[in-house]
Amino acid sequence: MTTPPAVNQIEVNPWYQQSTEVAFNQSEGVRVEAWAPFAEGKHDIFKDPTLAEIAGSHQKTTGQVILRWLLQRGITVIPKSVHRERMIENIAVFDFELTPDEMTTITSLDRRESQFFDHRDPVTIEQIFGSSLRQLKEDN
Ligand SMILES: NC(=O)c1ccc[n+]([C@@H]2O[C@H](COP(=O)([O-])OP(=O)(O)OC[C@H]3O[C@@H](n4cnc5c(N)ncnc54)[C@H](OP(=O)(O)O)[C@@H]3O)[C@@H](O)[C@H]2O)c1
Repeated sequence: MTTPPAVNQIEVNPWYQQSTEVAFNQSEGVRVEAWAPFAEGKHDIFKDPTLAEIAGSHQKTTGQVILRWLLQRGITVIPKSVHRERMIENIAVFDFELTPDEMTTITSLDRRESQFFDHRDPVTIEQIFGSSLRQLKEDN
């Protein structure tokens, strides 16, 4: 392959930080975009006390701290919201900066597992890609 992908969208959020994968993509010049930057709001991510404490010290929200942490890692974020006020909140992340200590504190929240499913689990792979893979085999 002579043309590398410009962007790779992979799950990245405070519970699943994918440090090795992000570093690899970035070392290859591939921009990482966070899939589910808020873990789709699952697992009480907006109520996490560590994130809330950091947010309070910047007069920001937990969501803004998550987005800022991703941006400071060089990761592109396109958070999803159907609420206008949250969209406004989510874009207001360019007027503060997390300190190196705060970045390290958030690193310690990593649970090192997908908040949705295991892409390496054969049963999961079958559920997601099974019919497409069978169709590909038939076509070839
Ligand atoms: N997850 C996927 O399968 C998938 C696949 C392909 C592309 N994408 C794209 O990836 C981007 C991220 O979307 P996502 O679906 O993965 O979810 P996400 O951005 O991780 O989280 C979205 C959830 O967070 C809530 N939320 C957003 N801003 C908030 C705020 N400031 N405070 C509190 N709650 C907030 C939303 O609720 P409300 O909407 O009620 O505000 C929604 O429940 C989107 O652009 C999406 O189109 C996602």
